[in-house]
Amino acid sequence: MPENKALWIKAKGAPLIVGPAPYTPPRAGEIVVRVRAVAVNPVDRLQQTMGDIFTPWTTYPFVLGSDLAGEVLEVGAGVTRFRAGDRVVGYAAGSDKQRNRAAEGAFQDYVVLIAHMAAPIPDAMSFEAAAVLPLGVSTAACGLFQQDFLALNAPSAAPAPTGETLLVWGGSTSVGSNAIQLAVAAGYDVVATASPRNFDYVKRLGAREAFDYSSRTVVADIVSALRGRRVAGALAIGQGSAAACVDIIGACEGARFVAMATPAASFDAVRAGRGRWRRLVPAIARMLTGMIALTLKARRRQVRTKMIWGSALIANAVGPMIFEDFLPAALAGRRFVAAPRPTVVGTGLANIPAALELQRQGVSAAKLVVTL
Ligand SMILES: NC(=O)c1ccc[n+]([C@@H]2O[C@H](COP(=O)([O-])OP(=O)(O)OC[C@H]3O[C@@H](n4cnc5c(N)ncnc54)[C@H](OP(=O)(O)O)[C@@H]3O)[C@@H](O)[C@H]2O)c1
Repeated sequence: MPENKALWIKAKGAPLIVGPAPYTPPRAGEIVVRVRAVAVNPVDRLQQTMGDIFTPWTTYPFVLGSDLAGEVLEVGAGVTRFRAGDRVVGYAAGSDKQRNRAAEGAFQDYVVLIAHMAAPIPDAMSFEAAAVLPLGVSTAACGLFQQDFLALNAPSAAPAPTGETLLVWGGSTSVGSNAIQLAVAAGYDVVATASPRNFDYVKRLGAREAFDYSSRTVVADIVSALRGRRVAGALAIGQGSAAACVDIIGACEGARFVAMATPAASFDAVRAGRGRWRRLVPAIARMLTGMIALTLKARRRQVRTKMIWGSALIANAVGPMIFEDFLPAALAGRRFVAAPRPTVVGTGLANIPAALELQRQGVSAAKLVVTL
């Protein structure tokens, strides 16, 4: 059996440390991947600093991380889509409440994946590039395609134009970069927000128009651009996005729904350890007041809002729709690109905490990747 190593979190709020880990063979419907690259996400940090509140079901010691690319080592019973040696990208679902399993955390050498949450990658695509995809594409897909969210048409190679427009607020984020491409592949026009330096970037991904989210007139500008068009709703990503999207969607014709990726307050300043509550209590207070204000605004504008949980697709039709039906051919045909671009910040599990800290300081249309 291969020797495995993991970046462990031994208890809630504990530092992340590298140590030996058991090798877990795949069960039916699972594969084991030798990981070659992982990407880091804001949620990985949140789980470390606020796991008791954010993912209270976690049993420690645990292994965090959701984004990986690598080579298939073993396939479990019933898996026919993969063979040992295949190059794949996959969503490591260990942190999901239904899985809650250290063997399925991305931050280790050998990871167990649910087979329908993995996709083959073309030979020309590097592991570093592919690793940026899983949580971004999954969160976007949850908001766009789940029946209790925007319930858009499925993405395909030859989408029929719907004549409807989707608003993606935060188009240059990792989630937004995937949402723009998925919506275009499903036959929707997209308008997106980003900083002006990323206007060309979101347009290259397929957005018809881009707006500066920090402009004082952005809400009115988008409402005026959408006049006469039918909207398919909005995907709200980034601080302040939900309230702005509710204002815009409330003033447009079409689906009155805002799928939200970002909570009403940021918990970025909260650290684990001593003094944690001093920062946590005001953040929770901001979150509660933000949620109340948003609920009242949404009611006034007659717009429905709902918070996305980015791993929900593992248990419904959207997971296979993306990882089995859409991504393999779309990546091979370059109709879908791995975005945002990877910035490799080191090699080895021990570099992941530094990558998480860099992530906290902020990235722009980039995803931080560590090779293993
Ligand atoms: N609910 C879930 O399950 C789930 C899953 C994944 C992520 N998320 C959340 O989704 C958000 C994005 O995550 P990510 O990993 O995609 O982020 P990311 O790629 O790390 O975000 C970086 C980008 O954020 C943009 N940005 C910064 N402030 C913004 C604002 N106020 N409005 C719109 N865009 C803003 C920046 O755009 P410019 O450089 O163009 O200014 C930058 O390109 C985070 O809040 C994250 O916690 C939620």
